[in-house]
Amino acid sequence: MPTALQTATALDADWWRQAAVYQIYPRSFADANGDGIGDLKGVTSRVPYLKALGIDAVWLSPFYPSALADGGYDVDDYRDVDPKIGTLEDFDEMTAALHQAGIKVIVDIVPNHSSDRHTWFLEAVAAGRGSAARERFHFREGRGAQGELPPTDWTASFGGPRWTRVADGQWYLNTFTPEQPDWNWDHPEVREDFLRTLRFWSDRGVDGFRVDVANLLVKDLPEQLPSKDELAQLDRTSGTHPLMDRDEVHEIYREWRKVFNEYDPPRFAVAEAWVETAERRAKYASPEGLGQAFSFDLLVADFEAGQFRSIIEQNLEQVRATGSTSTWVFSNHDVTRHATRYGLPPLAGRTVKQGVEWVKAGGPGAALDRQGGLRRARAATLLMLALPGSAYLYQGEELGLHEVAQIPAESRQDPSFFRGAEWDGLGRDGCRVPLPWTPQGSSFGFGAGGAHLPQPDWFAEYAASTQEEAAGSTLNLYRQALALRHELQGAEELEWQDTGNDQVLAFTRPGGWLSVTNFGNAPVQLPDGELLLASQPVHGRTLPAHTTAWLRA
Ligand code: BGC
Repeated sequence: MPTALQTATALDADWWRQAAVYQIYPRSFADANGDGIGDLKGVTSRVPYLKALGIDAVWLSPFYPSALADGGYDVDDYRDVDPKIGTLEDFDEMTAALHQAGIKVIVDIVPNHSSDRHTWFLEAVAAGRGSAARERFHFREGRGAQGELPPTDWTASFGGPRWTRVADGQWYLNTFTPEQPDWNWDHPEVREDFLRTLRFWSDRGVDGFRVDVANLLVKDLPEQLPSKDELAQLDRTSGTHPLMDRDEVHEIYREWRKVFNEYDPPRFAVAEAWVETAERRAKYASPEGLGQAFSFDLLVADFEAGQFRSIIEQNLEQVRATGSTSTWVFSNHDVTRHATRYGLPPLAGRTVKQGVEWVKAGGPGAALDRQGGLRRARAATLLMLALPGSAYLYQGEELGLHEVAQIPAESRQDPSFFRGAEWDGLGRDGCRVPLPWTPQGSSFGFGAGGAHLPQPDWFAEYAASTQEEAAGSTLNLYRQALALRHELQGAEELEWQDTGNDQVLAFTRPGGWLSVTNFGNAPVQLPDGELLLASQPVHGRTLPAHTTAWLRA
């Protein structure tokens, strides 16, 4: 028999399995000092809001010192806070306030690349070719008579070459922007330094880590490098691709796991790994590795019953094999907000990377069905919050915010907009616009000053303070759903119910929690049971189109 204490510890160690995690993009959440940039004191000031929302954890996108070449994913120093955002003391204060409110804290770790202002990179550039300092990155000679051509013709993820030349003529590898040199993970000091970083934040009381592009760290870069066309032919599912998802990356995460397990409860981690197959993703979710991995399957799906059902089935089946839990996410700081995706004309071969849909749909001026998109988003979210596993929410979705498409070029910040990333249309700024807290004020209550990305006039309608008072608001829907989820959530199981209608998905969770979603355009009859909550007003026993209802069966 376990003692009461052991049981409590085991429960605590499992807090993440079915957590509702709320992503904060710190520069755009709340601005306490009125300089137009969100800060950690701003997060602290909003702890009562987060508590009332009913989330279990927050995940903070990077708040480290950074020139913001890539929204903070260019890290100058992994063990400090950007002075524009606060101090380590502010961080401790914020963590204490969140913990006091029963909310766990997850921070973002960016291990594939540093920034070109990181001390080790500056040292590498200064030390010159052949130096030990350059070994920590991927430096190479160029091609051409004078080495004037990059070592390969590879394109960086945000456009432009994947190599950047330094003054003495050598080139370094940058998977994203030139300001983000890739670390050489074969180097023991790089490995050691990241272990130190994990301990640094864990010692400060952080409960877990979101691991940025977890699949890219290890590279195989022999003397003779493949060309871009040759790379495109290589298999991405065998663990042997030179640049991504190599099997050796899991050795790193096994080392990290040992560090996580030094703590009680063990520190949690979730991998961001856009890999090719569910089987490849499962490797990141192994209990000997990071333990959980994001599934973006629902995020790239249409609002369509058949797609939702097969994705849910596949994901649940997969976690049974790994022992992890499923992850569900519709929105984050990299993609078009889901209210907007579901409100744009249907696109064949839908792709959700930020802005592509707008461009395919005819540019930022393209017709957006605001109400219809939000209605479908609310239905999808309510369905997701009934699923077993972790639900990841992105700041502002609880307000029903739409993507901001109309941002003038001179106000944009995202490198993918400026560098002409192939996959991108408008960049990712539209989902990173500072939140509207009040209907008035110079930045809709974001802070006493302005907002570092321009907020549109229509933000006034979505202000949190207004929604708090409005019974059917999206904010109140999220609050009620999250509170009920806590109450109803039990074992990580789901049982599909036959609805006799392929537009309607229904499933029960242990204890008689029934979720029904009508994906169709026509109203349907609600099944028997006490109605607990619905994403749209329900009259009598009719479930309207594009609506989810929760019932006690
Ligand atoms: C992050 C992006 C970032 C990229 C490079 C991603 O997956 O979520 O915001 O630009 O990694 O760090």
